[in-house]
Amino acid sequence: MSRFAPMVDEAIEAIEGAASLADLEELRPTLLGKKSALAGASRSLGAMDPDERKAVGRELNVAREAVEACLARRLDSLRVDDRRQQLEAERMDLTEVRPDLRRGHLHLVTQARDRLEDVFVGMGYTVAEGPEVETAWYNFEALNIPEWHPARGTFDTIFVNLGEPEEVMLRSHTSPVQIRTMEVTEPPIYVVAPGRTFRTDAADATHLPAFSQIEGLVIDRGITMGDLAGTIDEFVKAFFGGEIESRLRPSYFPFTEPSAEFDISLPDGGWLELGGCGMVNPNVLQNCGIDPDVWQGFAFGFGIDRLAVMRYELDDIRELVNNDVRFLRQF
Ligand code: PHE
Repeated sequence: MSRFAPMVDEAIEAIEGAASLADLEELRPTLLGKKSALAGASRSLGAMDPDERKAVGRELNVAREAVEACLARRLDSLRVDDRRQQLEAERMDLTEVRPDLRRGHLHLVTQARDRLEDVFVGMGYTVAEGPEVETAWYNFEALNIPEWHPARGTFDTIFVNLGEPEEVMLRSHTSPVQIRTMEVTEPPIYVVAPGRTFRTDAADATHLPAFSQIEGLVIDRGITMGDLAGTIDEFVKAFFGGEIESRLRPSYFPFTEPSAEFDISLPDGGWLELGGCGMVNPNVLQNCGIDPDVWQGFAFGFGIDRLAVMRYELDDIRELVNNDVRFLRQF
């Protein structure tokens, strides 16, 4: 047995007894520093004769290594403890409910759009999308509104100055998504396309220059106006509940023939105009490479913001974009 064994045992006991990293740091010089017992023993080697010095020196090295190894292990384990304690102290419970904080929620228009999507998805439709900046082809031409057509003027379009005049614009309705869908989809087609639309309208109680529409498009065999009327009725009932009725009034759109406007009944006995609809004009089908002798369809488009106004009984459509949290919080 090494003559240094008691020294080593004592050192190890002290190391294991250290309760924290700081205690251990404090201990280190007394174990391995100049004033330590090991250093003292090392100094006494000088007085020994060479053979003895060699033997004792070797024992001393073994002893020192044992103490160093023990110190390193203890350091490691105290560091792990330390880190664990720190993590525990800084832990955050992200599921914690703070009754003193008000949770946000989706904007009214988003809620209305989501509900509309749900209603149509429930009827077997899928949801389509298109860009907010469009070319004249998608916003007008393919929809059977050539350049000379007076209907172009009725859309109060906001143009974007990117080269040719009146060639690029903020879409004035979601109907361009009809074209984009038909271009890439084989019939039968059942889609709705909600999205933002833009017109030069000044904001007032019933108009916004940036508003939202939802477009519907059905292309299948043997589709009639009756399917259109039934679909609108179904969706109005699903969205508002049983009491609200819908009606169609003859109208005109270049991309549908025949065309209609549809209204929903108001609690006060009046009617609110919600949007336009009709049977897809054969010219539009042809523009998209769909044979009108085989396929027929209907389309509709209406304002989501107006629907939100009606559903939440708002006095002024501008409330939707004022971003006054006191208003928004109510819903
Ligand atoms: N795009 C028309 C509008 O914004 C509405 C519409 C859509 C009419 C589809 C007929 C068919 O006024």
